[in-house]
Order: sequence, then structure tokens, then C-alpha cells
Amino acid sequence: MAHVNQEKWSSGTAFLLAAIGSAVGLGNIYRFPYVVGENGGGAFVILYLGIVLFFGIPLVMTELTIGRRRQLPPFTAFTELSEGKKSQPFWKFIGFTTILTPLGILGFYFVIAGWTLNYVVSLITGQLSDLQEGQTQAVFAEMMDSPGTLIFWMTLSVAITAFIISRGIKAGLEKAVNILMPMLFLILVLLVIYSFFNGGIKETFEFMFTPDFEKINMRTVLEATGQAFFSLSLGSATMLVYGSYLPKNESIPKLACGVAFADTFVALIAGFAIFPIIFTNGLELDSGPNLVFVTLPVIFDQMPFGQVFGILFFLLLAFAAITSTISLFEPAVSNLEERGIFTRRKASLVVGLGLWCLAALSALSMNVLSDVRLLTFNDTVAGKNIMDILEYMSANGMMLFNSLFAGIFLGWVLNRKEALEELGLGDSILFKFWRGIIKFVVPIVVGYLIIDFLGYGFI
Ligand code: TRP
Repeated sequence: MAHVNQEKWSSGTAFLLAAIGSAVGLGNIYRFPYVVGENGGGAFVILYLGIVLFFGIPLVMTELTIGRRRQLPPFTAFTELSEGKKSQPFWKFIGFTTILTPLGILGFYFVIAGWTLNYVVSLITGQLSDLQEGQTQAVFAEMMDSPGTLIFWMTLSVAITAFIISRGIKAGLEKAVNILMPMLFLILVLLVIYSFFNGGIKETFEFMFTPDFEKINMRTVLEATGQAFFSLSLGSATMLVYGSYLPKNESIPKLACGVAFADTFVALIAGFAIFPIIFTNGLELDSGPNLVFVTLPVIFDQMPFGQVFGILFFLLLAFAAITSTISLFEPAVSNLEERGIFTRRKASLVVGLGLWCLAALSALSMNVLSDVRLLTFNDTVAGKNIMDILEYMSANGMMLFNSLFAGIFLGWVLNRKEALEELGLGDSILFKFWRGIIKFVVPIVVGYLIIDFLGYGFI
């Protein structure tokens, strides 16, 4: 099959910005803080850091390697790299599931991205000012109950993403991250400075770094792994595709470490922007998903310059979300373009329309379709609505599944020489260590997590 030649990143830095943009998202700023809160702080943070170091970085390297080896998007990459092997049909299937996973993620991610856009505007127009205690809950509930509002803002996030993607790698993705990432970083710094002067830093340090290992069990390990993989954009076609646009002379290990470091740093910093103001206001940290959309607005309303702080905070979330949605949207478009099925622009339109329908279902599952229950035969998902099922299946199950097979592919199918050449580490201890982790440790650990995910765990 003839390949359509695709654009490449103009430099390693362009890749780095885009990959960090992908990694840093709602997962870092919205989800990480509340998951840390729910899991009691320090021990979870340390577990998380260990997982990023031992599994996260090696897996980012793995996915970039598979992507860059032939500079082809996943479906074709897996097909060509397993040429002549009996297992080739299976690897084609894996290529396919890696592309499907980010689409499933976008099915709910676009809706939450829409909430952040809505909050930016609500804060600017003062709809979230002068509220009594408890009223932010009502504002949030009102948004959830309104199909029109949810769909309007979701549509906007789909449209922005599809527009950026349709313009291509250099004029679309690179340009967007060149503008959004510096702004994101600047806002983050401003927020931390603001938090710093409002007290609560000491409590935050204690909370984030004093481990209470009694809080760790198999659930927490599963949760921390899921969080780390999601945050690093693993277990899907994102890193494979971003790697396929990477020029051959760039060092994969260095870039992988850069992405993981920046991603983890932002997650921790997000904690330092949010927790201090929670502590100084004497609030609890265990409010789960409500932390950002219900608890924080109450505080913004009462703090000096709270409105400005609030606008900046939700802008930060919105920018982080958009640089992530483009990385989730790109793989499907990349594959359709490379295989010559559609031009990039047509592909962006088609994928965008399809995703809009899926995200609309998610949005409606919080109001008109809130009683619809799918997959009732499975105890774990029986009580979940459509949006929660999408999240659970794509961001937990499918991501682990794809990570497992990316590891097995690199360790057991791709020949050693190819990996050696691609990594540029020589036949060193580091190379052997990395390959050992991918070949033996990842299949066992991630394999077990999948068994546990399916409800057959025994630890
Ligand atoms: N990492 C992003 C976040 O933390 C989300 C994301 C972007 C993602 N691309 C991905 C998650 C690919 C899984 C797979 O919000």
C-alpha cells in the first residue's frame, strides 16, 4: 500500500512542547489533585512517582520507538514491523485498538473540556460571584442538568480541536502549542505565587510528602498506575503518532525523560496551587471530582482578587485540555491520511463529527439519558452512566491493554537490533535495563493489573 508522506516536527523542541502539551492536561490539574486527596496524600504521591520512573518512562520510550521506527502511524507501523510473523493479524488488531482508545477517551474528555470553557466565561461575566456557601454546587448541578449548555461548550471544544488538526503538524499542532504552552506555564507560576502568599504551603508539603503506607492497597496501586499512564498519554496511539513525526536524529530517551519530568512536575505544582487555598480555608480535600468545579469557586469568591485568580485557573485548565485533545484526535486523522483514505481536512471533519456524536451521548448521560445503563451484566460497571463507562473502559481497561501489548511487541516481536538503533544508547547497561523492564516486568505487572481490572485479582 502506498503511503502518503506525512509532515514531521520541525525540531526536537517542537516535539517536546507538543508531547508535554499532550501529557499535561485535565489529568494533571483537575484529576491528580483530587485523586491524591481521596487517597490520603503522601503515600499515593510516592507510589505515583515510583510508577512514573519505573514503568512510565520506559513505556514512553517504547511507544516513541515503535512510532519512529518506520515513521508510520500505529496501524501501518504494527503491520510493517510484524511483517512475516504469524502473529501479524493480532498486531494489526493492536494497531487498531490503540487508535480506538483515544477516541473513547475523547468521548468524555471533550465534555469536561467544555465545562472548563464554560467556567472561564461564567467567571468573566460574574455568574460565579457573590454566591452563598453551597451555591456553587447548584451552579454546577444546573450545568449538568442542561443538555443545551453542555452540548454547546462541548461543541466548541470539538470545533477548536478539529480546526487545529485540519491545519497540519507545523501550521496547526506546532503553532497551537507554541502559543498555549508558554501561557499555560506562566499562569501556573502566577497561581503558585498567589497561593504561596495566602498561606497553607506548610500543610501542603506535609500532606503531599508524608507517607502513610497503611493507605496503600491493590486498589491504590491500580489507581496510581491508571493515573500515571493517563497523565503520560500512554496506552494509546498518541505517543506512537507523535513519535512517528519525530526526526531520526533526536534522542528518544532524553525526550521521554523530558516529557515525564515536565508532566510530573506540573501535576505536583497543580497540587501546590490548589491545596494551600483549601487548607487555609479549612476545607476538606476529599471532595473528589467536585474539588475543582464546586469547592474552588467558593473560595475564589471569597479571596482577594479571587475572580482574577479563578479566571486564570480555568483558562489554565482549558489550555491544558486543548493541547491534550489535539493529541487524542491526531492519531485517527494521521492514519486516515497516511493510508490515503481521506485528505487531512476531510479526515478532521469526519472524525470530528463522529466524536461529536459520542461526546453528545456523554453529555446527555448526565441528564436526559441518566437512567440508561449499559453492560449491566458486569458488576463493576452496572451502576455507571454512559460517560462513566466510556471513561472506565478507555482510560482504564483499554489503556492497560494497549500498554501491555506495546511492551510485549517491543520486547518479544521487534528485533533487538531495531530497538538498539532507534534508542541510540548503544548496547549499554541502560539499554539492557530498559529492555528488561519492558520485556519481563511490564508484562507481569500490567498483566496482573488487567486481571485485577477484570475483577479476578487475588492480591
Ligand atoms: N495526558 C492527558 C491528561 O493528563 C490526557 C491525554 C492526552 C491522554 N493524550 C492521551 C490520555 C492519550 C491517554 C492517552 O489529561
